[in-house]
Amino acid sequence: MSEGSFQKEILIAPSLLAGDFSRLGEEVTRISSSGADLIHLDVMDGDFVPNLTFGPGVIESIRPFSSIPLEAHLMVWHPDTYLDELKEAGVDRVIVHQESDVHLNRLLRRIRQMGFSAGVALNPSTPAFLLEDVLDLVDLVLVMTVNPGFGGQSYLGEMREKISRVKQMRETRPNLSFRIEVDGGISPVTASEVVLAGADVLVAGTAVFRNPPYEEAIARLRLAAGVGMSS
Ligand code: DX5
Ligand code: ZN
Repeated sequence: MSEGSFQKEILIAPSLLAGDFSRLGEEVTRISSSGADLIHLDVMDGDFVPNLTFGPGVIESIRPFSSIPLEAHLMVWHPDTYLDELKEAGVDRVIVHQESDVHLNRLLRRIRQMGFSAGVALNPSTPAFLLEDVLDLVDLVLVMTVNPGFGGQSYLGEMREKISRVKQMRETRPNLSFRIEVDGGISPVTASEVVLAGADVLVAGTAVFRNPPYEEAIARLRLAAGVGMSS
């Protein structure tokens, strides 16, 4: 999965959670031709987070509807048990939560060995320093800007500092080149702030799927992100 050159280019990752579940294939095709860089897929198990969505089977069935990268954001306990099926489903990046597995080193190594791009996510209450010893094993750090589980929640402004801290951690070690993603409450209003803090991948569900036409919604996010870049 091509990561592009971080900090120079902001990627927009629409979250299918806000799409129309009765016609997911169509949604995936439409969003892919509307300027999305990749598609964000929220896998929830109804236990790690208080909501249940879809798993590898559904992802496999939508894969043929798009050729852009798919990332699976795993909000599940025992994320390792899903990896084989996610590979078969055609997922490009797997993002696991720091809180979901005590053997994060082993898990991230396995994700990379399987040929996935590896991402690690932090709940709002989890401090950035807990990632210090795995940063060389990841291609992306996801700073959750809401408590995970549902779309349509309000952006938590206090996460701005955490985004900056993750960026600082990347800057202090020259061998690191992971991207910084944000997820939750990202809109044209909040996009410039998170980009200014250091985010370079923006996940957006409501702001895209609930504000059609998709092409214009994505363009609005890009424009707002550009303001953050040039500030
Ligand atoms: C929340 C999910 C998000 C969600 C974001 O737990 O991880 O990806 O879809 O939705 P919005 O953009 O509506 O906040
Ligand atoms: Zn997500």
